[in-house]
Amino acid sequence: MSSKRPTAGRLEKLDKKYIWHPFTQMREWEKGPQVIIESGTGSILTDIRGKKYIDGVSSLWVTVHGHRKKEIDAAVSSQLRKIAHSTLLGLSNVPAILLAEKLVEIAPIGLSKVFYSDSGSTAVEIALKIAFQYWQQKGKKHKTKTGFISLKEAYHGDTIGSVSVGGIDLFHSTYKPLLFRTRKIESPYCYRCSIEGTSSGCGMVCAEQAEGVMRAHNHEIAALVIEPLVQGAAGMLLQPPGYLRKIRELCTKYNILMIADEVATGFGRTGTMFACEHEKVLPDIMAIAKGITGGYLPLAATLTTEDIYQRFLGEYRELKTFFHGHTYTGNPLACAAAIANIDLFKKERTLQNLQPKIAFLKKELKRFAGLEHVGDIRQKGFMVGIELVRNKKTKEPYPLKERIGIRVIEEARKHGLIIRPLGSIVVLMPPLSISMRDLKMLIEIAYGAIKTVTETG
Ligand SMILES: Cc1ncc(COP(=O)(O)O)c(C=O)c1O
Repeated sequence: MSSKRPTAGRLEKLDKKYIWHPFTQMREWEKGPQVIIESGTGSILTDIRGKKYIDGVSSLWVTVHGHRKKEIDAAVSSQLRKIAHSTLLGLSNVPAILLAEKLVEIAPIGLSKVFYSDSGSTAVEIALKIAFQYWQQKGKKHKTKTGFISLKEAYHGDTIGSVSVGGIDLFHSTYKPLLFRTRKIESPYCYRCSIEGTSSGCGMVCAEQAEGVMRAHNHEIAALVIEPLVQGAAGMLLQPPGYLRKIRELCTKYNILMIADEVATGFGRTGTMFACEHEKVLPDIMAIAKGITGGYLPLAATLTTEDIYQRFLGEYRELKTFFHGHTYTGNPLACAAAIANIDLFKKERTLQNLQPKIAFLKKELKRFAGLEHVGDIRQKGFMVGIELVRNKKTKEPYPLKERIGIRVIEEARKHGLIIRPLGSIVVLMPPLSISMRDLKMLIEIAYGAIKTVTETG
């Protein structure tokens, strides 16, 4: 295809003429020179002009074993020779079955049923609908359990249900009139703790507040939804140790289903296969996507317990069926990629090999704390958020109009690193397979870009 493709200049023009990019102010996009990616290998992306970049955010948090991974390439092409797609509505397919078995094997104990979809948003949307319907079908006395508890600053995707349980004003406030109401609990944003004023001597008052809400409203709550350990899109907000476990205990105590949104944290991101494992938490429902196919194809799944599944069984006429399904649900190509992705974890000892890289990253990030405008550094495994502030002492944030995060990533790009900020937070999320050499380079470029833009820019 590359020999026949239009020139770089023409592609740039066509992009601006036809594509409306997600989460992008298109007026700015149309003005700037933009990077168009043509190929990738391992942790390296190459653009249409031949310039190479380190993929510092894993192509939006999805790449696990690197681009053009031989085994995943082979799995997809082998499946392609059989069939690219057939439906799961009233039929089944081989890769979807084999993948479901593997997912149950690696998931937290108790999750035994797999409902497929194709993005993190749909996986969460499905979790919400399942939780709602579960209580409706459990018996008359549970019919009032129709609502949800979610965290302030949460991000669970962009469909209306997922946005309803979200809490990032920047993304969500426009759509408020479209959303259903949820009970919001405090987000453990320790650097800017609004409850105790400081993270030192944390008494986890946020968890106590959560209990207050659950105690008062449990009769009307179907489920609590949480990103375990790390609120990613909020800026990599780390929950204090023990917080997730406490939330699990409270959900059990107050008869509320716990939905773990592992869309960002799943598939090794935090150093274990799923973030829930760090605190031995067993959710009732788990949403997964992003890294499930190693970053190859869109696929997601919502896993539930047997108890939840059983509530949906009945005679056809009873209408207990889960009336939900997307056209590409359980797509064979995507499932084949996901099987190869999971097999590679074992074959390449991905999680074991990741540990020294996590430790190295942790050590190197300490240096960033010395920079004049780095307010907070948050890391869990291979998820990093570096919060830039105008004034370190007062924690005064940069105003939006300074576009500080965007300026840092533009600077990084000049030096061969692709990253994407969350407001004033610089995010680092390399593929788990990144080499030590590329990881060092990523750190150097990110450090230099932050220093240049915030201290001399
Ligand atoms: C925790 C979490 N949930 C859900 C989503 C939505 O996933 P998708 O963009 O695939 O719809 C994201 C995306 O970043 C996420 O981080």
